[in-house]
Amino acid sequence: VHADVIAIDGPAASGKSTVARRVAAALGRLYVDSGAVYRAVAWEVNRRGIDPRDARAVSAAAARISIATFAGGGAVRFKVGGIEPGDALRTEEVNAAVSPVAAVPAVRALVTGLLREMPRFGSLVVEGRDIGTAVFPEARAKFYLEASPEERARRRHAESRAAGLSVSAVRDSIGRRDRIDSSRTVAPLSVAPDATVIDTTALSIDEVTDRILKADGIRTLPRPDAGPAARER
Ligand code: CDP
Repeated sequence: VHADVIAIDGPAASGKSTVARRVAAALGRLYVDSGAVYRAVAWEVNRRGIDPRDARAVSAAAARISIATFAGGGAVRFKVGGIEPGDALRTEEVNAAVSPVAAVPAVRALVTGLLREMPRFGSLVVEGRDIGTAVFPEARAKFYLEASPEERARRRHAESRAAGLSVSAVRDSIGRRDRIDSSRTVAPLSVAPDATVIDTTALSIDEVTDRILKADGIRTLPRPDAGPAARER
């Protein structure tokens, strides 16, 4: 059974979110922000007063977090304890907690399980760190976006999301996450052997989106409701 997924992976502020949303809208697919689910777990860990670096306590907490997913507004969304967290997930407190929390195997199992259930909502564009390598290794198309650390810090700083931090503080913050994300034992950030790598440093959002939409076969990928691929499912 092949899930109908386009995977877009890459490090922080490489442009994944904006590009993935646009690709999903252009292709009539649902957008999935897997990082938001990890952020929600980190937010919940903080809210419960658990030290994000205490892997045993985080593991225990993961077993008691209930996340409900649903489709709406062109995306697969989720609620934690009945609430859609929204901008609460973008604070520096969550930024600091999320990578250590996401390195805990029980957290990865929880989120990976949720993500693997999502194709029941329809065809997806899923962005993250390990989508093409670990969550959906059978994805129909895989892209890996990268950009220089300077450019990524500049972009994140330009978003109101980095409110209050200097460019160099933003650079340090995303550098710390990159290091943890790339070195963890389970499903580290890495390039899938069959991914198309796009260096976005000198490209606009439109140019990156265009490259993906023009990639071989992207517009003609078998859809669950059409053709032999549907019967294969
Ligand atoms: O938006 P930004 O690039 O800053 O990060 P994000 O996509 O919201 O992801 C936040 C964090 O979640 C990452 O730094 C990883 O620690 C974790 N993550 C992960 O481990 N695996 C994924 N598939 C997605 C995110």
